[in-house]
Amino acid sequence: MSAPVRVPLEALGPRGRTVVETEVGPVAVFLVDGRAHAVANRCPHEGNPLVEGEVAGGVLTCLFHLWRFDLESGACLFGDAPVARYEAAVEGCEIVVRL
Ligand code: FES
Repeated sequence: MSAPVRVPLEALGPRGRTVVETEVGPVAVFLVDGRAHAVANRCPHEGNPLVEGEVAGGVLTCLFHLWRFDLESGACLFGDAPVARYEAAVEGCEIVVRL
């Protein structure tokens, strides 16, 4: 099992998100209403960056062709394929992502 990835809260931009490079590729990290979420930054549709998506009600919408994903499960709500998601939690001043 790989070491967790630690993302300082201060690394999040004003929109509460960032991308971290990991051994499984770039991972988009979100802080939404105090909860952390992490998904692969490549949309399963055409690989565009999910970090740029819209987040509302626990749903991430890719801006490119509007595929929608449940941030809790990675399930695809509109489109054909789920997104890889990872366990993420706020621990102190960091978000800890377990790949
Ligand atoms: S690349 Fe995300 S919906 Fe097409």
